Amino acid sequence: MSDCIIAPSILSADFARLGEEVDAVLAAGADWVHFDVMDNHYVPNLTIGPMVCEALRKHGVKAPIDVHLMVRPVDRIVPDFARAGASLISFHPEASEHVHRTIQLIRSQGCQAGLVLNPATPVEVLDWVLADLDLVLLMSVNPGFGGQDFIPSALEKLRRVRERIDRLGKPIRLEIDGGVKAENIREIAAAGADTFVAGSAIFKAPDYADVISRMRSEVAA
Ligand code: DX5
Ligand code: ZN
Repeated sequence: MSDCIIAPSILSADFARLGEEVDAVLAAGADWVHFDVMDNHYVPNLTIGPMVCEALRKHGVKAPIDVHLMVRPVDRIVPDFARAGASLISFHPEASEHVHRTIQLIRSQGCQAGLVLNPATPVEVLDWVLADLDLVLLMSVNPGFGGQDFIPSALEKLRRVRERIDRLGKPIRLEIDGGVKAENIREIAAAGADTFVAGSAIFKAPDYADVISRMRSEVAA
């Protein structure tokens, strides 16, 4: 799977104008909407929940909504997000009592399932669940905040996870999240990512279409 998905993280959007901001990045060529959910418990920040996801759907957003749960516990919020219109739901294994069960729960609700690896989480956490996943999300910053610097060891980790996905031969997306910019996206893609979350690099840019098209051409280069 070599097609490139650009998923702007709305964490860096202007929340007072969220509907317009999402319309603007999609019109500028974004593929997915990356939706960061933080609970001030699993991570030291507090953001948005299912009501906001539902509001975006009611506003008319048709693009896939890529929900990144940074919450503990995970399971009880999954059905709420599925009802609210989430397309994919990803969670951190450290936040779930039973990782395999949570994956099945997400899929039983009609959503695609992703597992998120923090910078210090070993890739072996994928050993017995990779075949059940639609997506692996590698964190290239510690979760909780936008605007942090890309942690370089994520490149080697991407290569290792890419190898596992290719060996398995299933169409599992490999997503990277944290510190992704037009300036570093080429080496991130070369390391194996096919799905790119970018918050500050897109929403803090003056021209969303320009930065998204620069990202795409770097990936294709
Ligand atoms: C961090 C979030 C990211 C964040 C990325 O916990 O998961 O999605 O918004 O922001 P940037 O692209 O600014 O690093
Ligand atoms: Zn995220």
